[in-house]
Amino acid sequence: MKILVTGGAGFIGSHTVVELLDSGYEVVIIDNFSNSSPKVLDSIKEITNKDFKFYEGDVCDKQLLNKIFDENDINSVIHFAGFKAVGESVKKPLMYYRNNIDSTLSLLEVMGEHNVKKLVFSSSATVYGKPKELPIKEDASLSTTNPYGSTKLMIEGILKDLYISDNSWSIAVLRYFNPIGAHPTGLIGENPKDIPNNLMPYIVKVANKELKELSVFGNDYDTHDGTGVRDYIHVVDLSRGHIKAIEKVNKDTGINYYNLGTGTGYSVLDIVETFKRVNNIDVPYKIVDRRPGDIDACFADPTKALNELGFKATHTLDEMCKDAYNYVLKNK
Ligand code: UFG
Repeated sequence: MKILVTGGAGFIGSHTVVELLDSGYEVVIIDNFSNSSPKVLDSIKEITNKDFKFYEGDVCDKQLLNKIFDENDINSVIHFAGFKAVGESVKKPLMYYRNNIDSTLSLLEVMGEHNVKKLVFSSSATVYGKPKELPIKEDASLSTTNPYGSTKLMIEGILKDLYISDNSWSIAVLRYFNPIGAHPTGLIGENPKDIPNNLMPYIVKVANKELKELSVFGNDYDTHDGTGVRDYIHVVDLSRGHIKAIEKVNKDTGINYYNLGTGTGYSVLDIVETFKRVNNIDVPYKIVDRRPGDIDACFADPTKALNELGFKATHTLDEMCKDAYNYVLKNK
């Protein structure tokens, strides 16, 4: 079975390609390296000892998409490609709307024209906005606080309307919580090109002495130690969730939404202390003001993914912290 993976050279995309190849799927990747590097492709081959087809280009490019579908007997698509930095999206909203929405519309049109109607979409827990109840269930109310989040929510709306218009589509919308960690081989991982926005890549750069200290954004939240609580999930677990979702879209039609998280929340200081302990390294930090738009706590109810997909995250926070740092040590 051949799976097209958009954004397959990215952080979550590359780990998912590894899991797909290891599970016996054939893979075709399209990526324009806007936030990744061609080296990742060699690393995927090294880890899996398997090959795949690669097209360099933009998912907005319908001509290229048509070529890919003409040249390959694609069965299903996993759509990762998209811009994902919250802060940047506030500064450049049109760039975010244009890229994330346009690419998805192009992809869906070309899929429909080629009668490929099985899709797994990379959404985000950001669509839950400021959650009213914790843990968060899939039927919680949806809202967003920034253009990046709005693109995810708009795409979810587009997918719903598409399914209503033609229920031969089969769509799994995966709402990721906070993916961290890296492949245990240290060959692929998260490597932001600029100063990281997210907690774990920032910690890693502080540990590696590329950045001086971590700024902890607020210690007056309504959480056990006052710092923000999130549901961190190992990227390998998250990737395995996509294999389960591919199985699901190949079994049933419909549009279904799944949280991919562990169900456990950890605070910023929990993460810092665990990272220091398992890697035996210091991570200097200072407490600063809250980051605008941040919420106290966000963690998943992962029951639906367990019951309907048979998905359960198994990696511990220790493993997440170890693997995140191992990747940097191996790529110095
Ligand atoms: N944090 C710091 N210092 C930093 C970076 C982050 O203290 O330098 C804190 C934040 O305040 C927050 C926690 O660490 O409490 C996690 O922050 P991240 O930026 O790593 O992640 P967010 O939960 O803010 O957002 C992430 C993704 C979004 C996604 C969301 C889904 O960036 O794209 O998870 O839950 F939508």
